[in-house]
Amino acid sequence: MDKMVICGGTPLHGTIEVSGSKNAVLPIMAAALLTDERCVITNVPDLRDVQTMIRIFRALDIKAVFDGGAVIIEPKSSKKFIAEYSLVKTMRASICVLGPLLAKQKKAQVSMPGGCVIGQRPVDLHIKGLRALGAEIEIKHGYISAQVKKLRGANVFLGGAYGSSVLATTNVLCAATLAEGRTLIENAACEPEVADLADFLIKMGAKIRGHGTPTIEVEGVRQLGGATHAVIPDRIETGTHMIAAALTDGDLLIRNARRDHLSALVDKLEQMGVGITARGENIRVKRRQRTLKPVDVTTLPYPGFPTDMQAQMMSLAAVSDGISVITEKIFPDRFMHVSEMNRMGADIFLEGASAIVRGVKKLSGAPVMASDLRASAALVLTALVAEGRTDISRIYHLDRGYDRIETKLIKVGAKIRREKE
Ligand code: UD1
Repeated sequence: MDKMVICGGTPLHGTIEVSGSKNAVLPIMAAALLTDERCVITNVPDLRDVQTMIRIFRALDIKAVFDGGAVIIEPKSSKKFIAEYSLVKTMRASICVLGPLLAKQKKAQVSMPGGCVIGQRPVDLHIKGLRALGAEIEIKHGYISAQVKKLRGANVFLGGAYGSSVLATTNVLCAATLAEGRTLIENAACEPEVADLADFLIKMGAKIRGHGTPTIEVEGVRQLGGATHAVIPDRIETGTHMIAAALTDGDLLIRNARRDHLSALVDKLEQMGVGITARGENIRVKRRQRTLKPVDVTTLPYPGFPTDMQAQMMSLAAVSDGISVITEKIFPDRFMHVSEMNRMGADIFLEGASAIVRGVKKLSGAPVMASDLRASAALVLTALVAEGRTDISRIYHLDRGYDRIETKLIKVGAKIRREKE
């Protein structure tokens, strides 16, 4: 197992390039299951989750290859319809094959993803949405088993206790493209990754309106064709680099970035005293003042503050001049990074689903353990500003979601190396 060794205290300067979005590419790859024709997806990040999706395709007897930043999928009529536990357990997003498989094969069996360290991960909205389109679904032997004679369009309200669901929306959207008649998805997730999937489906021949808003309308078609599509830039990777610049008191030009996908983060960073200028697909980030102001943040569905940026934002709040309150409204248990940050000298305590962060003047390097993808990113950020050496173990989480992170950070001055544990 690898660990990351980081010597903190160097401001980051230079240009950093953002890769394609992990959360967009996974449902887009899954949507290729809806056609028998070739699909070419470009601007694909080199990530373990992309490889896992390719393995799921191979287990379905479908040829998929990752080659120089593109995934080429050559679907054909396959009789296989099972996504196995051994693959799904390593990547919860595997559930996004459920809707496409059901629509194309009329049958799908996908392992229940189970919980994970960030909390409960129910699938009731996925099931509710697909049932509304006529699917028969049961949970048996740890698998979601779905079948249908003919999918029919319907009105589906996809609201849960914590608001909309990104992957339930993508599943129902994909299934609705091949359903007979019109589907109206209300309380749909508005995340840019859902809109990017809809753009890909439209290129395949789907009839979709309203994507990127809470009401998506789909007019089912008889079949979909192949398509070529470039994935949007990863807004969470972009946000992570923005915080790296602010945290280390550096100056970064972030390329291949979409400022319009990050309004909630930009707003909070500006409140803290970070200067952000965007031109075209470039964002420049540099502190406007020496000390950062504290900030209150509540995570919400898009366009609210992303839960996937909560841990990284906490690392910045940890060195601000005052008290910040960070409240998690999507995954109320997503605070595994708090105790590790405290080991590095942060002053954070939890009060229900809120973290009270008292800014400190200095953090110090320590051995810490990564618990999930975004917590790992936050520990890397914290280590970049901490005095001395930090060893982050279980770094494999980072490889699930960040494409060549240390290579990119080293190029802008970070002192990072990977070692075997
Ligand atoms: C996606 C993202 C993940 C991000 C999350 C929230 C991908 C691959 N992953 O995950 O990085 O953190 O959105 O922005 O895109 N819920 C239910 N019932 C369901 C499904 C979800 O109650 O059937 C709840 C969840 O527990 C959570 C909330 O809805 O509280 C949002 O989760 P959801 O949007 O579904 O997350 P994912 O799509 O799995």
